[in-house]
Amino acid sequence: MRTVEWDGRCGELRLIDQRLLPSELKIISLSDYNQVADAIRDMVVRGAPAIGATGAFGLALAAQRSSAKTVEGMKVELEEAARLLRGSRPTAINLGWALDRVMEAAGQSESNCDDLRIAVINAAQKIADEDVTINRRMAEYGAVLIDDGDTILHHCNTGALATVDWGTALGVIRMAHEQGKRIHVLVDETRPCLQGARLTAWELQQYHIPFDIIADGAAGFFLRSGQVQKVFFGGDRMAANGDVANKIGTYMLALAANDNSVPAYAVVPTSTIDLLLAHGGLIPIEERDPDEVLNIQVGGRPVVPTGATAINPAFDVTPHHLLSAIVTENGIVYPPFDENLASALSRLKI
Ligand code: MRU
Repeated sequence: MRTVEWDGRCGELRLIDQRLLPSELKIISLSDYNQVADAIRDMVVRGAPAIGATGAFGLALAAQRSSAKTVEGMKVELEEAARLLRGSRPTAINLGWALDRVMEAAGQSESNCDDLRIAVINAAQKIADEDVTINRRMAEYGAVLIDDGDTILHHCNTGALATVDWGTALGVIRMAHEQGKRIHVLVDETRPCLQGARLTAWELQQYHIPFDIIADGAAGFFLRSGQVQKVFFGGDRMAANGDVANKIGTYMLALAANDNSVPAYAVVPTSTIDLLLAHGGLIPIEERDPDEVLNIQVGGRPVVPTGATAINPAFDVTPHHLLSAIVTENGIVYPPFDENLASALSRLKI
């Protein structure tokens, strides 16, 4: 099953509820775009490409449920839905990118409401199908960066669950494994929402890829003691100069990798590259509910003292000079990124 799937028979969107993994694999059905915005905000679905496809299908639900009698009327409703969906999470550019693409397709459909509805649903489905093709292409390009016997440190979850299917950085690791390379993965637990310990570990078990979970703070130890050959992570938004926003903790991981001459690779589809932003300082960083940090229990007992407060930035920016290369669906991009990223985008093949 894909992480995000449109059910054309009943016009509903099916999602894996990632909050319940790994203890429960539950598929939920959404029937209106307000539910989709909530699902994105509450991280029922998360990961930049998965959020993008889900947002696109949110517009498909808006078109599907619209009772507008005119094309103009339906477009007004779609604009309202896009505005709400766009506001659900600010950092992953894939959400705005996908909404813009679907609205562009809607803009080209003038004839009648049924044709407009079909145009919106098809545009969303195209984004989802392309995502799978793009991830497999990145995996084929990126797997050459992994050698037989490598131990790879991975941060957050960038697998099939973070996309429509296959995955980005974890997709590269999966491809290397499928090519027969004997690899071992160190999985950053990725506090506070534990996407590594919960989701990446679950996926690696499904793919029979050997791994160990580590505390985020242990990454430096494994890098300095020479136990890691490569570092891989994804991205939520990459600026024109190659600075990349990704799950909180990525910057420190890249710093430690750099300090120990271990290559660090970002795997990002070109839909995640925002050429309108000159550098990473311009990327909006989501701040999430402090309770995600505070609400931890050990042995059924709260860990933090009552009344304690927390600050919870969900992403940080890794400056481009800490990246060894960027894997896209159009190939591997090496420094200088400000020149080479733009040409990688112009080489669009999909
Ligand atoms: O808060 P999340 O779980 O949505 O954060 C996800 C990440 O930071 C991923 O690394 C990124 O979206 C790339 S997913 C292919």
